[in-house]
Amino acid sequence: MAEMKLQGTTGAVPLLLLLVASPLFISAAAAAKMGEACSADKDCDAGLHCDPCVAGGSARRCTRIKPSDPQSKVKGLPFNKYSWLTTHNSFALRGQVSATGAAIIAPTNQEDSVTAQLNNGVRGLMLDMYDFEGDVWLCHSFQGQCYNFTAFQPAVNVLKEIQAFLEANPSEIVTIFIEDYVTAPRGLTKVFDAAGLRKYWFPVSRMPKNGGDWPLITDMIGRNERLLVFTSKSAKEDSEGIAYEWRYVVENQYGDGGLKADACPNRAESSAMNSLKESLVLMNFFPDNPDPSSACGNNSAPLVDMLNTCHNLSANRWPNFIAVDYYKRSNGGGAPEAVDIANGHLACGCDNIAYCQANATFGTCDVPLQTDVPLQAKPNRTSPAPAPASGRAAGPASSAGELLIWRWFYTVLPLLTAFFCLGSG
Ligand SMILES: *[C@@H]1O[C@H](CO)[C@@H](O)[C@H](O)[C@H]1NC(C)=O
Ligand SMILES: *[C@@H]1O[C@H](CO)[C@@H](O)[C@H](O)[C@H]1NC(C)=O
Ligand SMILES: *[C@@H]1O[C@H](CO)[C@@H](O)[C@H](O)[C@H]1NC(C)=O
Ligand SMILES: *[C@@H]1O[C@H](CO)[C@@H](O)[C@H](O)[C@H]1NC(C)=O
Ligand SMILES: *[C@@H]1O[C@H](CO)[C@@H](O)[C@H](O)[C@H]1NC(C)=O
Repeated sequence: MAEMKLQGTTGAVPLLLLLVASPLFISAAAAAKMGEACSADKDCDAGLHCDPCVAGGSARRCTRIKPSDPQSKVKGLPFNKYSWLTTHNSFALRGQVSATGAAIIAPTNQEDSVTAQLNNGVRGLMLDMYDFEGDVWLCHSFQGQCYNFTAFQPAVNVLKEIQAFLEANPSEIVTIFIEDYVTAPRGLTKVFDAAGLRKYWFPVSRMPKNGGDWPLITDMIGRNERLLVFTSKSAKEDSEGIAYEWRYVVENQYGDGGLKADACPNRAESSAMNSLKESLVLMNFFPDNPDPSSACGNNSAPLVDMLNTCHNLSANRWPNFIAVDYYKRSNGGGAPEAVDIANGHLACGCDNIAYCQANATFGTCDVPLQTDVPLQAKPNRTSPAPAPASGRAAGPASSAGELLIWRWFYTVLPLLTAFFCLGSG
């Protein structure tokens, strides 16, 4: 949610003046375009924020945080003809304290709430769910276990945020990818019911099984089947009616393995990227160790390069989901720009959704005459921004969850052991 800061002013009178003058104030101040210098979000045009990423260590700049709404150009295509911005570990927020009260010592991947993410156009959410405290929690793990210091909060809280968004936005469709460690009988069913999400459920029976097109989004909206949920546990498709992700989606390798240029290998659980039995394509692009400074660089030109690479290696399909860490960070157009490119190709046959004409024939594009439109601002220097000093130990990322947390614990455990040995000696 936007937060108005009274910089250098206190008291009721300045507040009143600011409120009265605010329309004027905003239009006067919000002048900076993408790539231009800024010192706070309010300096930037709508849809941009003042990104803490610094190219070459110099000024902060206005960068994009919202993809264009593809429905504003082309309505009513099958669901698999659109691309959606997706956040990896949407729940693992920087600076968050565990709802148990413990300080969190697990990696974090995003920096604003799921509500804020949804309001910025994020439509795919990756959530890691565990049994914990007799409930289902959003958590990272050690040996498949959730602990106070890796537990973020009960899943129902975030699911209720999604419920409120779907309620308030009757034309929007949200997809949840669950990294599922829940073993409690019907644990997921109970938590989705408790959040009031059942009424939006898109049934497994309507998902195409053999590479066919999905229903039209207008049809999904009309039937109010606007929530897609995928689990990583195959048995839950039969037992709870929750779609097993890799029956419907091909997905490339997550973590460092997915960052290698000119390659787009599938993750182990997924069919090959060029398999046509699955109608949806998900592209991951984030490192093993999530960090905001790497996200600045990776969510910029390398993301668009990988988009093209993965397209070519996925039977010329553009990804329906583009998943990143710190989705707001970039040196310009960022992840929203990558989504706009995918949507342009998918929805109307243009290089960017910005070039699509509303309701026009596929392939009719309004490409701007000038080629210097800075869709993706170039950093002033070619070297990536220097990493800011980090207050926490570098942690593992986590679709990779298990393996990485292990690696991390192997580093920390000897230190802890040494500490306790010294303490008791
Ligand atoms: C980039 O370089 C140009 C001139 O080459 C300069 O005017 C601008 O302020 C620089 N921007 C940043 C963010 O350093
Ligand atoms: C974990 O948090 C719960 C509160 O949710 C608390 O009751 C429990 O004592 C905590 N456990 C440890 C080991 O701190
Ligand atoms: C992408 O992330 C990796 C891993 O954190 C990092 O080494 C690399 O510098 C990043 N790339 C850019 C262009 O910032
Ligand atoms: C993808 O394929 C097209 C057409 O063959 C080619 O022009 C382009 O260079 C390829 N892009 C990448 C990143 O492989
Ligand atoms: C496109 O078509 C839709 C539905 O027929 C209509 O509501 C909308 O106004 C049209 N947009 C334009 C720009 O013609």
